[in-house]
Amino acid sequence: MSLGFSIHSNIHDYDVFIEQTPEFIDNLTALPLTCFVVDENVWKIYGTTLLRSIPGPSRIILPINEDRKNLETVQELYDGLVDRPAKRNLTLVSIGGGILQDITGFAASTLYRGIHWIFVPTTLLAQADSCIGSKTSLNYRGYKNLIGTFFPPTRVYIYPPFLQSLLDPDFYSGFGEVVKLHLMGGIDFFHQISRQAPDILQREPAALVTAIRDSLKIKLDFMSGDEFDSGRRNLLNYGHDFGHALENTSDFAVPHGQAVIFGMLAANLVARNRNLLDKNLEQGIAETLLIPSLIVRPSPQALEPRLLIRAMQKDKKRTGDLLALVMMTNDFNFVRVNDLTSDEVISALAALQQLYVH
Ligand SMILES: NC(=O)c1ccc[n+]([C@@H]2O[C@H](COP(=O)([O-])OP(=O)(O)OC[C@H]3O[C@@H](n4cnc5c(N)ncnc54)[C@H](O)[C@@H]3O)[C@@H](O)[C@H]2O)c1
Ligand SMILES: [Zn+2]
Repeated sequence: MSLGFSIHSNIHDYDVFIEQTPEFIDNLTALPLTCFVVDENVWKIYGTTLLRSIPGPSRIILPINEDRKNLETVQELYDGLVDRPAKRNLTLVSIGGGILQDITGFAASTLYRGIHWIFVPTTLLAQADSCIGSKTSLNYRGYKNLIGTFFPPTRVYIYPPFLQSLLDPDFYSGFGEVVKLHLMGGIDFFHQISRQAPDILQREPAALVTAIRDSLKIKLDFMSGDEFDSGRRNLLNYGHDFGHALENTSDFAVPHGQAVIFGMLAANLVARNRNLLDKNLEQGIAETLLIPSLIVRPSPQALEPRLLIRAMQKDKKRTGDLLALVMMTNDFNFVRVNDLTSDEVISALAALQQLYVH
């Protein structure tokens, strides 16, 4: 039994299934002309259990970390694929988190100008956020996601029990994106996630399914009609302007979704200083939801304003001389501005240091 929905894409439509039992894995291993690429950590945990039916010759085990989300690792993968008899009729099945998704998705979209691709996300971040949206991204010279393509998988199989083995920093990282999406969904979703947070953080199965399903629905709503990210979809970058910069200045010691929480705190402070967000709402969101979800603390060096500003200047979504920022405003509306000044960044970071980062 699985819950499912279809997503329209200008490249090709695709289906997302939320699975309650693991039979889908055996069905995937029965497909012809398939190569499985499995995150090494996932393989170590599930190689002799859930994933044991994947035949040796059809699998590549890939060690991943954010430093390896680059063209060299993609080349490694091409090397493991080009000698196989299947060419454009090859199906790549990726099993892992958002990093494995980005590496394998980029490879699947470029090898032979595109092969079949199925994705089995195994982290909260990948299940609740990155598995839909058709973006593949690689880092370039230490800066986030500067290279990439638009290429959705043909199918996504979400199996929430995978989340039970995630380490806390990775689970809380995914939770950052879940919180972001629920804030973007409006006040009712904000209240819902505030109520549900303890159950989700306890990894209670029913709470996980609801959080994943609702996060994907909200994301889909922002994406529809703007797959290629020229308008409304851009607002999903909420938390990411500062967040990406912090990933860079911390040398990726702060996981992506944790950096996004920090980014939301900072963006809300700028919005408050611009009188776009009431102080009470800013503080309420920070104290009930954002701060309790932040378990990885950046080093003082990573929070150095000059370094963060320099990293923000590398953001690919920036168009002019000033910095770009997506902010939440009252009534849970979102706006993107292109006129953020260095002074505003400095004062938001100072307030953040004082209030929240001890
Ligand atoms: N393409 C997109 O649309 C998109 C969207 C959001 C984020 N991202 C990218 O996703 C990446 C972050 O993804 P992530 O948070 O999934 O990180 P990740 O892929 O690094 O996974 C986190 C850690 O968990 C391990 N792991 C994976 N599944 C596991 C499991 N079931 N049990 C135990 N350990 C497991 C991994 O080996 C890794 O060490 C970032 O690079 C970010 O830029 C991409
Ligand atoms: Zn993100």
